Amino acid sequence: MTEQKATNITWHHSTITSQDREELLKQKGCVIWFTGLSGSGKSTLALEVESALHQNGHLTYVLDGDNIRHGLNKNLGFSPADREENIRRIGEVAKLFADAGVITMTAFISPYRGDRDKARDLLGEGRFIEVFVDCALDVCEERDPKGLYKLARAGEIKEFTGISAPYEAPANPEVVVNTGEQTLEESTQEVIAFLEQNGLIR
Ligand code: ADX
Repeated sequence: MTEQKATNITWHHSTITSQDREELLKQKGCVIWFTGLSGSGKSTLALEVESALHQNGHLTYVLDGDNIRHGLNKNLGFSPADREENIRRIGEVAKLFADAGVITMTAFISPYRGDRDKARDLLGEGRFIEVFVDCALDVCEERDPKGLYKLARAGEIKEFTGISAPYEAPANPEVVVNTGEQTLEESTQEVIAFLEQNGLIR
C-alpha cells in the first residue's frame, strides 16, 4: 500500500519554514507517541498531558486511535497489514502537525516495533518521543473500559491485541510509565519533565 503510484509530481518548498513557525509559537514541533495495550490508559494520559501543556500556553493536538478509525482510517481493520497502514498514515499525519509546530500526541496501540520505528525515522532525531504506557494485561483486562477483552476471550473479536494478536513492547522508549502502579498525575509529570529536560518546552 506504500507504493509510489503518482508520477510527474514536484515537491514545493514553503517560504515560511518550520523554524519560523516554532519561533512564533515558542515551542518545538514534535510527536509524543503513546503506545500500549488497549485499556492501558494511552488516551487518558495523552489528554491529561495535553491539558497540562495547553494550560501553560502550548499549542497541542491529540490524534486518537478510535477517532481516526472513524474517518481517515475507516477502511482499515486489525490485520497486521491494516495495522501497519494505520500506523504509517498516522506517522505521516503526525509529521505534518509537527511541521506546523504543534506538540502532537498520538494514542494508538501501535503493536509492532518496526512500524513505530518507521514513524521515528520519519520524524527525525529529537522530534519523536516514544512513551511506553506499560500496564499488565490482567489490569487492562480488569478495567476493560469498552468490554472488548470479554468479547475477545469469548472469541467474538478476532486478532485482539494481547489475547490473540501480539504486542511488541518498545526496546528503548524515551519515557516509560506504569499506569497500574502510578497515578495519572505522576505519569503526566514524567512526560512533562522529559519535554522540559530536553528543551521541547520552556
Ligand atoms: S492499532 O493496533 O492499529 O494501533 P488502534 O490504536 O488504531 O490499533 O485501535 C485500537 C482500538 O480499537 C482499541 O482500543 C479498541 O477500542 C479497538 N479494537 C477493536 N478491535 C480490536 C482488535 N482486534 N485489537 C485491538 N483493538 C481493537
